[in-house]
Amino acid sequence: MSGQDSAGSLARDDSSRPLRGRRVLLGVTGGIAAYKSAFLARLLVEAGATVQVVMTPAATRFVGPDTFAALTRNPVQTDVFERTDTVLHVRLAHGADVAIVAPATANVLAKLALGLADDLLTSTLLEATCPLILAPAMHTGMWAHPATRANAETLAARGAVIVGPGEGALAAGDEGVGRMAEPEQILAAVASALTRPGTGLTGRRLVVTAGPTQEPIDAVRYLGNRSSGKMGYAVGEEAARRGALVTLISGPVSLPEPSGVEVVRVETAEEMAQEVFGRYDAVDAVVMAAAVADWRPSRTAEGKLKKDAGPPELTLEPTTDILSTLGKRKEHKVLVGFAAEAVADPSAEGRRKLAEKNLDLIVANEVGAPETGFGTDTDRAAIFSATGQDVPIRRWTKAELALAICDRLAVLLDASTGGEAAHQP
Ligand code: CTP
Repeated sequence: MSGQDSAGSLARDDSSRPLRGRRVLLGVTGGIAAYKSAFLARLLVEAGATVQVVMTPAATRFVGPDTFAALTRNPVQTDVFERTDTVLHVRLAHGADVAIVAPATANVLAKLALGLADDLLTSTLLEATCPLILAPAMHTGMWAHPATRANAETLAARGAVIVGPGEGALAAGDEGVGRMAEPEQILAAVASALTRPGTGLTGRRLVVTAGPTQEPIDAVRYLGNRSSGKMGYAVGEEAARRGALVTLISGPVSLPEPSGVEVVRVETAEEMAQEVFGRYDAVDAVVMAAAVADWRPSRTAEGKLKKDAGPPELTLEPTTDILSTLGKRKEHKVLVGFAAEAVADPSAEGRRKLAEKNLDLIVANEVGAPETGFGTDTDRAAIFSATGQDVPIRRWTKAELALAICDRLAVLLDASTGGEAAHQP
């Protein structure tokens, strides 16, 4: 191939669009095809990706790290002990939307299949949860060996995408199957991995609400509910893991703050409403997982009400319905609500609230039954969307439900903004 021509044509090609703004980890292992990865690095950069190259020591004998550093405008990492203060392999793993190993030698396939972590690249890939693209390159006999076949199958079964190898000239003048796929093919595989629904929320700005609100009766008493905040925290954490910039507006809960998430603490429905409304212009989506109180005492007594004065007469007034207010404004934002219902099948109520509050997605879940709803780690829930891709009622862990919500969010956000984050980080 001619690097100049292929790079130029691919930069104009629509297939490279999903790469814009994405963080790509490019692992280079020790094979002669490492020189082709320099072209791949350039294609990735031209497609708008931020590329972090990690080389094995053997790879550096084929192509110098400076070549990749110049092409990617990013220092190349080779040594697991380079930045022990920041735990480099963990930082690299968490900072990638997609990982590629090109060329992938028989040795690295074996190590990845076994879960070995004896250098920076394999340690990083063992920690990473993003999609993995492998471009094997080796001699025909090594590729055909039952050990390599089994390793490739193991990796594919775990979800790795294996591109190539193709047939053609190999090292030392040999010919056969084992030649690394061309950079364009690898680029197309990366683009397609990134367009798979649910793979990324990079740069998306989300407000997620969680927990109960507490509406004061007097200086020490309040009206509240049993929400633990687990669902909203799980959504916030998962969205942040996928690259979203998450503000978690949390009522009073006793959960640890998820890493990589900005947490804003509130007590009342009114405070939550103000925090959400104040951010609405700047966000791409709002996920209202909080159990917002529907009513509050119309006046809060000063100090602590004394028992001797007899039971107080509480007059209640409605709080602001945050989600309904947002639904009236909408403005191409994605709105996700929850409907907590104390009935065996909350589907009908879920559908009603989806339409009434003008939402894109609603999770209708059962509360009050054992092991489902407030405070538990599992839910019986159904998902309804405005476009009709519904998931009927079933049992989920809250973590599974968070994954499903983020998958849907990614698709809805791509549809609402044509694949672009509305606000760049
Ligand atoms: N919600 C809100 N503001 C409120 C009350 C609820 O934004 N004052 C949101 C919740 O966070 C949830 C959705 O609206 O995402 C549905 O909440 P739910 O309490 O199930 O429904 P309500 O509309 O309050 O109706 P009802 O309590 O009668 O079932």
